[in-house]
Amino acid sequence: MRAAPAQAARRDRATSAPPLPLPFAAREEDLAWLDACLAEVEGSVVAARIVGEHGVGKTRLLREFLDVAASRGDIVIQTGPDPWGAEVGYYALRWAIAGLAELPHDGGNASNWNGATPEARRGLLEIFGKGDRAADVRRHAWNKPAAGGLSPDDRRFIAAEALRWALSRAQQSAFPHRVLLAIDDLHAVDGASRNAFADVIAEPPLAALLIVASHTPGFEPGWGGAVRALGGLPKDIALSLLRSSVSLDHRAARKTPQSTGGARPSPRRDPSDGATADHVALGLPPSAATPAGLGGDAATVPPLYIDQLVRYTLEGGSDPPARMADLVAARIERLPQDARRTLQALAVIGDAADRATLQRLLPDIRAFDELLNKLAAAGMIEEHSSGIRTAHPLLRDVTLATIPAGVRRDLHAKATFDSAGDPLALPLEVQAIHAYHAQNAFVALMLLEQAADRSAARGDTAGSVLALRRGLDLARREIFRGELDDPVRAVLIFSRKLGEALARAGDLTDADGVLREALDLAGPGGPDRALVLGALAHVAHQRERTSEASMYLREAMDLARQSADSDVVQSLDKMRREWMAR
Ligand SMILES: Nc1ncnc2c1ncn2[C@@H]1O[C@H](COP(=O)(O)OP(=O)(O)OP(=O)(O)O)[C@@H](O)[C@H]1O
Ligand SMILES: [Mg+2]
Repeated sequence: MRAAPAQAARRDRATSAPPLPLPFAAREEDLAWLDACLAEVEGSVVAARIVGEHGVGKTRLLREFLDVAASRGDIVIQTGPDPWGAEVGYYALRWAIAGLAELPHDGGNASNWNGATPEARRGLLEIFGKGDRAADVRRHAWNKPAAGGLSPDDRRFIAAEALRWALSRAQQSAFPHRVLLAIDDLHAVDGASRNAFADVIAEPPLAALLIVASHTPGFEPGWGGAVRALGGLPKDIALSLLRSSVSLDHRAARKTPQSTGGARPSPRRDPSDGATADHVALGLPPSAATPAGLGGDAATVPPLYIDQLVRYTLEGGSDPPARMADLVAARIERLPQDARRTLQALAVIGDAADRATLQRLLPDIRAFDELLNKLAAAGMIEEHSSGIRTAHPLLRDVTLATIPAGVRRDLHAKATFDSAGDPLALPLEVQAIHAYHAQNAFVALMLLEQAADRSAARGDTAGSVLALRRGLDLARREIFRGELDDPVRAVLIFSRKLGEALARAGDLTDADGVLREALDLAGPGGPDRALVLGALAHVAHQRERTSEASMYLREAMDLARQSADSDVVQSLDKMRREWMAR
């Protein structure tokens, strides 16, 4: 089984750790459902999705299912979000294609791409960053791309072609075994990769395989396919898992009282006090379980909550918070200071951290081995060949949310430079996130604008809208913070770009609203106002409001002429001619 770093197995725990992970429980029907999906794979692509809240057990269910498939000889390829959580363009797709077609991590070169069509080859060049990077981004949203260049739709098409090629290749080399492509946390996967997965499922290659994804509710991936809703574990099973895990650990502790290692002795389970955990009344806080559903389903508890409660109890905690995030936060708070600081730095660096980066972020800490061992024994981090990572996305999120603001800013500011003070070769999207949280507004805005352009060029309108929304929020905040020379102009530019991106995404009502706000900010004349009016004309035309469109266009033309902006005049004129030609 080949796995992305973010998806790598979580088995290798320190021997001193409590008896975790919890034994896999109560998923027979879900496994049977997945088996039935796999059994349907005959001559075509079958798509399936597991949908459930955070911590409900999606990753674990997939892993148990995939482990069995792999042990039968099926080929299992796993992919998922980038380790930084930055929606790095094509990240998930690169992992999927490299795994399926057995390419080197950098995609290799033409000699590795046997049987790929010219379109698929162009797609591979684009996906692995060997092509001409977004050289032909449109200057104005309302104009079509220049002839000869790749349009966003072209890029989207060739990326999907590359994936079709990789899927067919995997199936050919796996035969007579089956191929399974698993995408965990699809909701956090970058939009360009998501598009490719959706396009391939809509128009699959002639290859028999299963594509199975997991995501949280409320996210719409644009696939059809079979869907399975996953809930927590029934309350009685949750309780028995909790009790047996804590008492198992207790028995182990009694046998070897000197070697509890990372599992810190707790007052409750201290063997010397005569009380055995078997007799301790372990329970769930009343509101830890979601109430029974209207459809008559029994109350359930997310297994992540049980896992955290076992650990919290073994660490000597009492009165556990009923909310999962609060329970995780309580555990983080109880860590010794340097262990907590290490965890915070790891959360900032992302899920492929190394010791050198850690050292750079926390220069006053001399040795990390003991701290990392402590965090690993607490089940908070895992160390793999691909780097050090937090053990669960929620743990990373809660850690990030609880870092004091000043500390966080400082950690992000250090995270983009190497020890010699040179910038690290991090993906643009990751640099943007670091600059954003380092409160380096100017750099963050510049990077967000580039990230938005790049997403748009790939046909990833959702990614482009997201980056521009972040930029707009940041620019708005700068009006009060005062670190930018002209924050109002930044708000204006990001509003206009966001309006244009929303229009490209087909969200014309929102586009119109955002552009009208931008128009209020633009002064009475000048090139900025002309551009906003041009975008409003484009949107009005798309909405078939002809007279409104003409009015905006005329006003835009007048202003562009007055400011002698021949480039904008020409481009507006081209839009006018295109309207007339239809
Ligand atoms: N059926 C189960 N029986 C016992 N333990 C489970 C089960 N399912 C999950 N767990 C445990 O619960 C914890 C959370 O599970 P998992 O990471 O799979 O949740 P998730 O739904 O993928 O969460 P997220 O959406 O945040 O990624 C893990 O420690 C896992 O080992
Ligand atoms: Mg998961």
